Amino acid sequence: MRVTQLELTNFRNIENAVVRPCDGVNIIYGDNAQGKTNLLESIWLFTGCRSFRGAKDAECVNFNSAKTQLSLDYFGEGREQNLLLSIEKTRRFTRNGIVLSSPAKVMGAFLAVVFSPVHLSLVKDGPYERRKFLDVAISQLKPKYAVALSGYNKALAQRNILLKDIVYHSELYDTLDVWEEQIAFYAAELIVQRVGYVNRLRDFTTEIYGGISNKKETLDIAYEEACSTGANKKEEIRAGMRDLLRAARKTDLATGSTSVGPHRDDLSIQIDGLSARSYGSQGQQRSAALALKLGEAAVIRNFTGEQPVALLDDVMSELDTSRQNYILNHIKDWQVFITCCDPRSVKNLKYGQAIRMQNGAIV
Ligand SMILES: Nc1ncnc2c1ncn2[C@@H]1O[C@H](COP(=O)(O)OP(=O)(O)O)[C@@H](O)[C@H]1O
Ligand SMILES: [Mg+2]
Repeated sequence: MRVTQLELTNFRNIENAVVRPCDGVNIIYGDNAQGKTNLLESIWLFTGCRSFRGAKDAECVNFNSAKTQLSLDYFGEGREQNLLLSIEKTRRFTRNGIVLSSPAKVMGAFLAVVFSPVHLSLVKDGPYERRKFLDVAISQLKPKYAVALSGYNKALAQRNILLKDIVYHSELYDTLDVWEEQIAFYAAELIVQRVGYVNRLRDFTTEIYGGISNKKETLDIAYEEACSTGANKKEEIRAGMRDLLRAARKTDLATGSTSVGPHRDDLSIQIDGLSARSYGSQGQQRSAALALKLGEAAVIRNFTGEQPVALLDDVMSELDTSRQNYILNHIKDWQVFITCCDPRSVKNLKYGQAIRMQNGAIV
């Protein structure tokens, strides 16, 4: 997958810009707060995912305007394609001239992976960030997963409301069956997909981390169920989850929240057998997060046959030369967008083009 042209109108501080990237490494450089990350963010939005900065869509519209318009020409699935994205309070996508009935329909059309300083939270913070990583990564590959996830979250929210209501209306108790049945149905789907995804990702991340750390350390990841049914098959997980929910009713009624299910699960990340979150150094945590992200790209390529576009925000300057070398070598056949303050900080780059950003403009 390659971006051939990107046109931005009123996207954050970029009022008007046209970028024609090269197929290899594109360095976007300039001082702080000039719009480098904004440019990466605009490309990322074409994956159909939320902003990697956690921003709401409306925040992406230029302060002086009511509407953002982005146009992406790219090569994917063996042909030239175009996506248009307009943001005016909400998003609207047009793919090859056809308006999509919902923004979720764009998922899978344009594939990218992004790594930015916020992704350090993947290793450093609580399990929520890691579940989000899995959810976004799987949704890009299997749009149906996003549907199951949304079904799960809705059923879970309903059960939680009900748990609180039952305290005052005990006659509602039997209604728990309905929501638990739904939660169990979607939970089985989520768990099977997440376990399958982590199994695919595992070898890639271990290999990449080995490369980054110069074979001195070993990274291992695993899907960790907070409360496991002990089953592997979807039907069995579903039945097991139904039992777990039923058994947890008493505790859950006391707290007004649901204590079992994949919304409590985690992705374990260990370096040489120790939790990277609890024991990893800054450098190890950064390398582990990067290995997960580059691994994510490898899974996408494996699954779809398309090499996703890599968006690397402010990563190179933090790494020593040998780690930089490994990464640049690893991504040398991909189209990459790297932001940095000083293009010389990417010392060993012998190919590609540099784009300078100043005050929201390309100069
Ligand atoms: N909706 C918006 N409209 C106009 N400017 C914005 C908007 N959102 C962010 N900005 C500006 O964008 C700049 C930050 O851009 P960013 O891409 O993060 O910089 P950097 O070059 O350091 O990566 C800030 O000056 C900020 O005020
Ligand atoms: Mg930035």
